Amino acid sequence: MALIPATKLIQAALADHAAIGHFNINGADWLETYLKVAQKTGTPIIVATSDRIIDFLGGFDFIAGYVRFMVQALHITAPVVLHLDHGLSVEHVYQAIDAGYTSVMFDGSKLPIEENVALTDEVVRYAHQHHVSVEAEVGSVGGNENGLINGIRYASVTDAVKMAATGIDALAAALGSVHGDYVGRPNLNFERMAAIAAATKLPLVLHGASGIPDDQIQQAIQTGTAKININTEVNTVWTAAITKAVQAKRSGHDPQPILLAGKKAIAQLVETKMKAFHILGKSKRSVTFE
Ligand code: 13P
Repeated sequence: MALIPATKLIQAALADHAAIGHFNINGADWLETYLKVAQKTGTPIIVATSDRIIDFLGGFDFIAGYVRFMVQALHITAPVVLHLDHGLSVEHVYQAIDAGYTSVMFDGSKLPIEENVALTDEVVRYAHQHHVSVEAEVGSVGGNENGLINGIRYASVTDAVKMAATGIDALAAALGSVHGDYVGRPNLNFERMAAIAAATKLPLVLHGASGIPDDQIQQAIQTGTAKININTEVNTVWTAAITKAVQAKRSGHDPQPILLAGKKAIAQLVETKMKAFHILGKSKRSVTFE
């Protein structure tokens, strides 16, 4: 199946009180495992590359070509979106679109809201001409993601409404979540989440979902969150599995058992998350995504 924009997937998930899982690609093993889990379970998936590590991954053209090739070679029929996570400039977002990404995030969260809205507006016009979905951020997700460091700033309803007017497809309203590990229990503002969902009528995106307890994930889904981003937890289970496999190695130089342990750990985590997001198996069932 061809790669698709995220718009209809997220809208269908929202109507169904579910959320599409967004999982970050950190190397070939991540991508292959994500696609295989999506296919095995019949679940739509968003595979994403963080703008911060795009050169490490080989660049936009390489990734867009590679994802398409892998989808074809592995005979993936589950719906797959290729998404740019935290696009750091309008130019980078355009490069991703030109390379063949089907969804982009423009992250203007460090800018004054007027500037963030104006640049997002440009992105929306270019992206929609190319049938690419757009996510924008208001407020600021805290923590550290691939060296992108931010303090928490809760999104306001007023800013969210200004951003919604650009015609974006999904809104990352920062409401207390952080990228990376949490210190203590996450403090999400669900009252504000409900107010933003009602005022904008947009599906909301939960960034920094690694480490958010299941009860809060469920509450976020019931409050209008329809896309949930996971990176850190995948890397945590991968690192633990690889470390264990290296330590258990008695002799020889065969990397396969070590890398396989990493893939298995990723697969298990992704399936668990898809289940928690109520999306597992949904492309096999009644919901139409295209
Ligand atoms: P975590 O690294 O905390 O899972 O956050 C992922 C994310 O929000 C990517 O945009």
